[in-house]
Amino acid sequence: MSQQDWRSFIQQVEESDHFQVIRVKDEISPAYEMTAFVAELESHGTSPLVIFENVKGYSIPVVANLLGSRTRMSLAFKVKEEDLSAEYSRRIKSLFPEKVVKDSPAHFRIYAEDEIDILKFPILTHFQDDPAPYITAGLIVSADPDTGVTSMGYHRLMIKGGDRFGISLHSRKRLWDYQRRAEERGKNLPVACILGVHPLISLASIGVIPSQTGKYEVAGGLLGEPLEVVQGVNIPLRIPAYGEIVLEGEILAGVREPEGPFGEFTGYSSYRSTEHVFVPHILYHRENPLYQSICAGRSAEHNTLLAIPREADLFQALSRSIPGLRAVHVPLSGCGLFHAYISMKKTAEGQGKQAILTALGVDHCLKLVVAVDEDVNVYNESEVLWAVSTRFQADKDLVAVHGTMGVILDPSASENGLTARIGIDATKALHAKAVRCRIPDEAKDFAKRLIAPPGQEKLTQI
Ligand SMILES: Cc1cc2nc3c(=O)[nH]c(=O)nc-3n(C[C@H](O)[C@H](O)[C@H](O)COP(=O)(O)O)c2cc1C
Repeated sequence: MSQQDWRSFIQQVEESDHFQVIRVKDEISPAYEMTAFVAELESHGTSPLVIFENVKGYSIPVVANLLGSRTRMSLAFKVKEEDLSAEYSRRIKSLFPEKVVKDSPAHFRIYAEDEIDILKFPILTHFQDDPAPYITAGLIVSADPDTGVTSMGYHRLMIKGGDRFGISLHSRKRLWDYQRRAEERGKNLPVACILGVHPLISLASIGVIPSQTGKYEVAGGLLGEPLEVVQGVNIPLRIPAYGEIVLEGEILAGVREPEGPFGEFTGYSSYRSTEHVFVPHILYHRENPLYQSICAGRSAEHNTLLAIPREADLFQALSRSIPGLRAVHVPLSGCGLFHAYISMKKTAEGQGKQAILTALGVDHCLKLVVAVDEDVNVYNESEVLWAVSTRFQADKDLVAVHGTMGVILDPSASENGLTARIGIDATKALHAKAVRCRIPDEAKDFAKRLIAPPGQEKLTQI
């Protein structure tokens, strides 16, 4: 099996740590129950890969939450969790042109346009206010109508019958721009929707990269080898080769239909949508296909997928002007998009604010940036807030910008997506007198031995 095949990754996860995988053998409905199941796990502080084997009314298993943890993402990169964003930004620099292969396992069963019935798949209805089942793991691949540069991105798909989908392009990135330009010429935009790709391809699709760089090349960079693609069966597009289920079709020009509301990554049911329409012309899938679902709402899965490429992008941009940059964390509390915490060893006054302005400049999604010193662990929000409480003065350390481009799905942004953004410089002045309470290393080592992990001999009973 190719290492680019998501099935090989699932196998890797199962072999590496069985506690990360839950196989649900009890009957479970795709309407609300699967969402509730994963949300319940998350409320207990766990986010395993979940395989629902016995889906009510369907014979196809559902694979959920594959991307819902940093541990699994770091397994995909084969690095330690704390090195994820640095590794992403390192790999994204080497681009590989895609490699065309002849066959795809997804060509096992091909359905012509008049045979397509998407309702045969166990598509989840996620939340009470969703008007229909939604495909959430549909990776939409497309090509620039002028230059042919490739793109990939996740876009929610609302089921409007067996062969018609509502699609929202609210991120206003490449697909939105490609469709806009095709539409100006009265043309539909050919796209394919793929379910079940390797996590590094998923992560490449969210990458923030120059518009002239193809996302297929970026996927190659993350994979460390050319992305393997096959020629579309029915459309002039090359498509990642190892998908489970593929729909080839078009986003219609000049057609808008009601779409949504949908339970979004912000934790709100969102009514904002661009209301485009996707019509498939052909559907094909692998033998015994698995149906992938990305957990919707403010889930660890959706938000981790958003956060990691952002951290990497910020890390790369900040490392140009902040020599002592240590770490960047885009936390789930900010929906994987709106907040960033940056730590650094300050070498000159003003670097905290410099980092804030750089971060706000490279990423229009950020609404809050906190800069802290290197002794603060940015992965621990309590420590970040402690730094704010003891190293920040609002009259001189606050940066605020109004009326900038924001994220349409943020319910606090204006109707046309404008947002205000702030930066909090919670770094100390270089010669600040405040000294952190310290404990000698020998005393710390002694305490560690006292509270030894289970199985190790303790110095004393507690
Ligand atoms: C699970 C998931 C679902 C997403 N859904 C949407 C969506 O419905 N519409 C949208 O515009 N962006 C959505 N996004 C963000 C886009 O996938 C992302 O901005 C991507 O880079 C856009 O690709 P593009 O440049 O080809 O447009 C989603 C992201 C994730 C991780």
